[in-house]
Amino acid sequence: MELPNINILDESNKILRQKSKEVTFPLDDETKKLINDALDYLEMSQMDEYIEKYNLRPGMGLSFVQLGILKRIFVISEELEKNKFKRYIVINPKVISRSEELIYVGEGEGCLSVNREVEGIVPRNARITVSAYDIDGKNYTIRVREDISIAFQHEIDHLDGILFVDRIDKKNPYKNKDFMREI
Ligand code: NI
Repeated sequence: MELPNINILDESNKILRQKSKEVTFPLDDETKKLINDALDYLEMSQMDEYIEKYNLRPGMGLSFVQLGILKRIFVISEELEKNKFKRYIVINPKVISRSEELIYVGEGEGCLSVNREVEGIVPRNARITVSAYDIDGKNYTIRVREDISIAFQHEIDHLDGILFVDRIDKKNPYKNKDFMREI
């Protein structure tokens, strides 16, 4: 497998702070190709063979804004078992409902645009229901939980110009830890 030629922007790039725009259908071929390239990239970034070969940082989610394109599109690649992945293509997402229960990633969230160690945790809803469109413009509703719920919220934030580091209280990076469940 060849590594797709995509360029992921660093957090220093101001584009990442902009709000992405809704997408209209049908998607053009270039957009569809980029969706598939981004998913290929994410999968390769989670496979030992390619991590070593291309010196990749593992990532499970990527938003178009991270590629410099202000469209409300993100993809997630979930490793189900070794080298086997489930793909999520999420376009124009709307959060319909959120669980009251909050969770956080104990070791801290990561982002392919944030190339440094970050201290602190981000409160996220344990479960959310999202309405979105697939690559063919078909509307669907999905309920996600645990790490995938966090990944969705992380990526939806990207579409609104928010990075996970923005959600960490600088003075108290582990604020409200005891009121949330660690995953
Ligand atoms: Ni990110």
